[in-house]
Amino acid sequence: MKYIFANWKMNLGTRESVALARGVMRTLRGKEKTPSVVIFPSFTVLNEVRKVMARSRMRIGAQNCGTDKKGAYTGEVSISMLEDVGCEYVLVGHSERRFVFGESLDVVSRRFAAAIASKLTPVLCVGEPLEERDAGNAKGYVGEQLTTALKGVRLPRQKHLFIAYEPVWAIGSDHAALVADMVDMHEYIKDTARKLVDVPESKIHILYGGSVNAVNAYTFLREELVDGVLVGGASLKIKEFQGIVDSATDVITAQEL
Ligand code: PGA
Repeated sequence: MKYIFANWKMNLGTRESVALARGVMRTLRGKEKTPSVVIFPSFTVLNEVRKVMARSRMRIGAQNCGTDKKGAYTGEVSISMLEDVGCEYVLVGHSERRFVFGESLDVVSRRFAAAIASKLTPVLCVGEPLEERDAGNAKGYVGEQLTTALKGVRLPRQKHLFIAYEPVWAIGSDHAALVADMVDMHEYIKDTARKLVDVPESKIHILYGGSVNAVNAYTFLREELVDGVLVGGASLKIKEFQGIVDSATDVITAQEL
């Protein structure tokens, strides 16, 4: 299976979100071999998007989640609130949360632990800044992000482990990672995750994110170690997104031959 996760970030209001969700549904309609598509809209439009997609195969997720059940946490949205509006997935530790809003390793690991213990499936986002890659420390950096979030995690039996590798310098930059570097990192992430969490390999899914578009999606998705892509900017343009979905469909079809 290949996964296409669409991170709409803080870009669309209700009307635009509903229109885009309908457009995405049209790209999947009537096709047999489609990837699993999950949309991550803003909190405020989750309910409307859920209604639009009610009878489709698409799923919805949130871009972040609170760590506590309820209480005096201004600005946070709890996991039960997300479940209440139909979310099945949640991004945790996206680089914009870590670097723009200063979410520490500890905060990210608490969000991840809370989501793992709930009905949601968290998608742990990791990735190194350019200085770390230039200094030859990309794996050391990502390794620390993985260790702090995954150490001691007990994965419920029915759950899968989702990790998105998104190098910070590749996000929104038009400079996607080189396929060879990405594959190398995916291998490292899979090995590290297996050492940290008791989970069969078949339940670990590693996605690539960072300037994925309709032109380059195929080159990432055809790699066996790449279970999918997390798409930001290109997920807001229906033609681009359709190209990405079509690439995944081509890969799924080719792999079945
Ligand atoms: P991008 O964003 O596709 O615009 O690079 C990816 C992400 O931030 O998840």
